[in-house]
Amino acid sequence: MNDKSTATESAKKVFRDEVLAGLARSPRQLPCKFFYDEPGAHLFRQICELPEYYVTRTEIKILRLHGAEIAAVLGPQIELIGLGTGAGTKTQILLQELDRPAVYVPIDISREQLEKSSERFRKMFPNLQILPVAADYLEPFELPLPRHLSSRSVVYFPGSTIGNFEPEAATEFLSRLVELVGEGGGLLIGIDLQKDRHVIEAAYNDNAGVTAKFNKNLLARINRELGADFDLGRWQHYAIYNPAEGRIEIYLMSETDQCVRIGDQTFQFRGGEKILTEYSYKHTIGGFTMLARQAGFEFQQVWTDDQRWFGVFYFIVAN
Ligand SMILES: C[S@@+](CC[C@H](N)C(=O)[O-])C[C@H]1O[C@@H](n2cnc3c(N)ncnc32)[C@H](O)[C@@H]1O
Repeated sequence: MNDKSTATESAKKVFRDEVLAGLARSPRQLPCKFFYDEPGAHLFRQICELPEYYVTRTEIKILRLHGAEIAAVLGPQIELIGLGTGAGTKTQILLQELDRPAVYVPIDISREQLEKSSERFRKMFPNLQILPVAADYLEPFELPLPRHLSSRSVVYFPGSTIGNFEPEAATEFLSRLVELVGEGGGLLIGIDLQKDRHVIEAAYNDNAGVTAKFNKNLLARINRELGADFDLGRWQHYAIYNPAEGRIEIYLMSETDQCVRIGDQTFQFRGGEKILTEYSYKHTIGGFTMLARQAGFEFQQVWTDDQRWFGVFYFIVAN
């Protein structure tokens, strides 16, 4: 077996183990990182274009408006480490603004997107060393060598993906990033801010039903890869804002009592029973700054849109 098929086999085993463990838990849950197989990544790109999904549009607007200032604050010849940068639309805007970036290390669980965007960036930025890493950033990973000489390492974590972490896990993850960039390093991070719950709920319940398709693709993926028999017609997408926790909660809800087989295991679901597939926390500027400070990051600046719906924050690890 070559390296790629060994990696695919081990990724499949992780997928099976985590799916079976998540469905055996009470309440049941499936990790949101598994949304992003090829069809899932494609559906997510469609979500980014939806009129209700203000998140991507607003973050891009902030980058376009303040890109030069952001680049000046990050400084010249940096090493940019992109976490979950997906199709790379935002990273492209940032790289175009940066002053002679030295190295770009995108890390994403979605291998196909990573390869495509890296290929595109190699053509667009011939002087930039691009070292893609197809990995789960929740697990320990190593940064590839060689590394061009760079002035500092900056993690770029767009899309408010940190919102998928519960606050304690977010602090823990951010402290790993403190270690990763080291003293003098930085973190540029996109955060979806708290706002009217109707705006948030509409963003995760679009009229065209793309988010529902994206959510249900997780079951379709389990069918495809693990030989399961989820009947997608008997599951409903359900997304609701929880004001006490400040988060949107996304579930797959069983429409009837049903029995599902995954390989040689069977799971019984009651009608109305839910599987949690994602939390997306919406932070305040003060709340997120505090969370990052607890992890060891020092707040530098935040750029927002006129409505203060989204914030692009910059933190450093003080010397
Ligand atoms: C919500 S999308 C955001 C995409 C893009 N950054 C944006 O802002 O539009 C999350 C991205 O993170 C990646 N991702 C999610 N969980 C991951 C994990 N545990 N490890 C590595 N990549 C992950 C997905 O493949 C996807 O590209």
